[in-house]
Amino acid sequence: MVGDTPMAPAPASVGTFRDRLRQSFAAAFRSLDADGVVPIAAAEIPALLEQVRETADAKFGDYSGTMAMGLAKKAGKKPRELAVEIARRLSAAAGFADTFSPPGDPVGPGFINVRVDDAALAAAVSAAFCDERLGVPVVADPDTIVIDFSSPNVAKPMHVGHIRSTVIGDALARILAFRGHRTITDNHLGDWGTQFGMIIWGWRRFGDEAAFASDPTAELGRIYRLVRKLADGKPEELAADPAVAELAARHPDAGREVLLETARLHEGDADNRALWERFMPACLADIEKLYRRLDVRFDHTLGESFFQPFLAAVVADLERQGLARQSRGATGVFLDGDDKPPFLIRKADGAFLYATTDLATIRWRVEHWQPDRILYVVDHRQGQHFEQLFETANRWGVEGIDLVHVAFGTVLGDDGKPFKTRAGDTVGLESLLDEGVERALAVVAGDEGMAADERQTVAETVGIGAIKYADLCQNRTTDYVFSYDKMLQLTGNTAAYMQYAVARVEGVLEKGGIDRVSLRRSAPAIVLADPKERALALELMRFGEVLEDVEADYRPNVLTAWLFDVAGCYSAFYDALPILKAAEPERSSRLALCDLTGRVLRKGLELLGIGTVRKM
Ligand code: ARG
Repeated sequence: MVGDTPMAPAPASVGTFRDRLRQSFAAAFRSLDADGVVPIAAAEIPALLEQVRETADAKFGDYSGTMAMGLAKKAGKKPRELAVEIARRLSAAAGFADTFSPPGDPVGPGFINVRVDDAALAAAVSAAFCDERLGVPVVADPDTIVIDFSSPNVAKPMHVGHIRSTVIGDALARILAFRGHRTITDNHLGDWGTQFGMIIWGWRRFGDEAAFASDPTAELGRIYRLVRKLADGKPEELAADPAVAELAARHPDAGREVLLETARLHEGDADNRALWERFMPACLADIEKLYRRLDVRFDHTLGESFFQPFLAAVVADLERQGLARQSRGATGVFLDGDDKPPFLIRKADGAFLYATTDLATIRWRVEHWQPDRILYVVDHRQGQHFEQLFETANRWGVEGIDLVHVAFGTVLGDDGKPFKTRAGDTVGLESLLDEGVERALAVVAGDEGMAADERQTVAETVGIGAIKYADLCQNRTTDYVFSYDKMLQLTGNTAAYMQYAVARVEGVLEKGGIDRVSLRRSAPAIVLADPKERALALELMRFGEVLEDVEADYRPNVLTAWLFDVAGCYSAFYDALPILKAAEPERSSRLALCDLTGRVLRKGLELLGIGTVRKM
């Protein structure tokens, strides 16, 4: 195994190239302001610095500043003229020349293009090569960030929809932690909802003790599905199964009775509470199994039930502060005036709602964790709930905390409709993973040197990785079509391709019998004479910038897209240049680039929650 090995302590970080360049641009802006060329307030600078980014095309340099166009009017100058002024001050900024070549004349309407100095790039690669963090700086000012994700409603089977929150939330948690933030992950389980009324009601009528003893979740799942049909009473569902239709005829009031059982549970009825306590361990064991398989962990699992004791006080407090009031027996917070529907926190029958629990949860988190941000990784269809929740929380005095709904779209089938089985049922998460692994077996079957059990392990990593990556590489807010065939392709932006790239990179080192630790100890000189090796080096050095961009919008697909670029740069480098057969000093330098590429790809996948394999 050629995993990460102990190495020298990380060198003091000086920030990414983009950070360094932005610092120089900031100095240039201050000087423009001081010289009266154009007034730039300190508060405007961050937005201007956003316009310093990597170039799309290497022929224009490595980074580009595009703010001259926007600032020109205020300066009363042509954009190009202003760009010249900026570039002149940029070259003079302290530290600029240590990292960058002198900028040439601005091009086009006023692009200021900047190239990283080759010696600075080689030095950065050398440092990253000996750094456990691969050159990724830690944020200067870490936040405490609560990440509320996965949060399924238990006692009903987890389905494909739950994969998104679980996988995106886990990736964000890993990335934010690696950036140096203090992360707190919390699985806000739906463990108190109507589904318990359903299984309590159903258990009393149709429960099978023996079946529960041998496979509790299967038995609860059976009851849940049956009772849902009885309670919904959809004619087409009943028509499909005469036995169910007959039960429905015998229990015409199922829907109302189920709600009564839920209400009894919430009021503290001892029998219902006892059943809830009996069912919960089985529900938890069931989802725990999935989390283990997905390699997802939580710091806390504080479900809705945990917050029940606080709900009455939440409503009372909101009423006392004049934020909530009664209307037709129910209690709500009127956010948009009296005529718009309020944010309901208590129903006329006294029951509390999802919203009430979420308010209690915010207060609890603030009290116990003092977060700077709370991220809710939840389906976009709950957008209005979170808007109202955040607004209510603000009025209630939760201030200075960034509350963010990290929303995502729907997983679709080939037909463009929400992903279902052929029979029209939602696809259970467990069988979804099974099928992914099964199909991955066919992909890894090609290798004859692999023992059967190793193949199975590899297939598990490749199959689960494919499902996760297919989700993470999407722009999270859009819907996407679930396709095993696509996600398991060995080419294109897929997990299998990335895992294969890692195995290939590390295969070179293995083939050469290279001991990676000794290679690092020997601190080889980095040679970046060929454009292909320079391009690879520069791309590898962008890791920190990419993670910063992921955080800016909470978009893991920024990372997948970049990993794909890194793999592409590596392929171009590998195809064009000899490595093991090269002469020194190129040989060691290129081996160092291989080693670093392998570690960067592996780390990138790890931050997405995706494993790698030695061979596939
Ligand atoms: N249990 C909810 C559902 O399945 C998601 C909970 C999300 N988190 C929250 N704090 N509301 O729809």
